Amino acid sequence: MHLVTGSTSVIDGVLRATEKAGFEVSRILLGPLASGAAVLDTHECELGVVLVDIGGMSTEVAVFFDGVVRHSGVIRLGSQHVTNDIAVGLKTSLEQAEDIKKNYGSAYSTALPDEPSFLVSDIGGQATKEVSCETLRRIVQPRMEEILSLVSEEIRRGDSTKKLGAGVVLTGGGALLRGIVPLAEEMLEMSARIGIPKGFSGLTEFVSSPVFANAVGLLLVELRAGGYSSAQMSRFGSQKKKNWWEWIQRLLKNNF
Ligand SMILES: Nc1ncnc2c1ncn2[C@@H]1O[C@H](COP(=O)(O)OP(=O)(O)OP(=O)(O)O)[C@@H](O)[C@H]1O
Ligand SMILES: [Mg+2]
Repeated sequence: MHLVTGSTSVIDGVLRATEKAGFEVSRILLGPLASGAAVLDTHECELGVVLVDIGGMSTEVAVFFDGVVRHSGVIRLGSQHVTNDIAVGLKTSLEQAEDIKKNYGSAYSTALPDEPSFLVSDIGGQATKEVSCETLRRIVQPRMEEILSLVSEEIRRGDSTKKLGAGVVLTGGGALLRGIVPLAEEMLEMSARIGIPKGFSGLTEFVSSPVFANAVGLLLVELRAGGYSSAQMSRFGSQKKKNWWEWIQRLLKNNF
């Protein structure tokens, strides 16, 4: 049995916010379990796999083997900490640091962007300087190494390192960082891939990003529990693009 505990005040806050938005909560699901439902194959869960969801303020870890979740944990560091480091290191605003991270950031020396450098202005917007992508990598990589070394500790705590034949699957916005796959492979000493949500064929274009693993997983778990078949779920997904948000709202309101 795998028991997860959480702060009741935090959970109550989320429940209240959801209800105020006009929805009824049908169940509470641990984040990485939802992401896992969207991106992991059954055979990966049998073989042993670790799901690492790198969010803004936290990184969630869930270890699966023999088909079930065996260990989970939350690390209080995420991709926002990389942004903060860039802002401090390059003496610029958080907004600019966030753009720089997404456009030029890398966590691995062999995965640098095509452009060798970029321009950055100071906080007051007065002066502009040129910074090399290699300099940026030297700010970004250590923080990602710190996060991944905590992930490694978390995996060891689950006492399952030898059982993870299917390696690591990365989700969350932080998984979009250039070079994250080779760095994860090096730090965790196992194969790594980015987890792209599947299960909604028609919406593939929209949700083909590790950022949506969590949201898609929540929907999939609820739809499967409601007895929807894969074909029905694909049909939901093939709704016209412009209606997708109304579709999700209708789906939530009508079914849950
Ligand atoms: N292209 C990108 N490259 C690097 N980082 C990115 C990219 N796109 C988004 N991110 C980062 O991903 C983070 C947000 O990820 P996500 O949406 O998974 O977080 P969240 O679920 O809202 O946060 P949390 O899980 O901590 O509650 C932000 O810090 C953002 O900067
Ligand atoms: Mg998240």
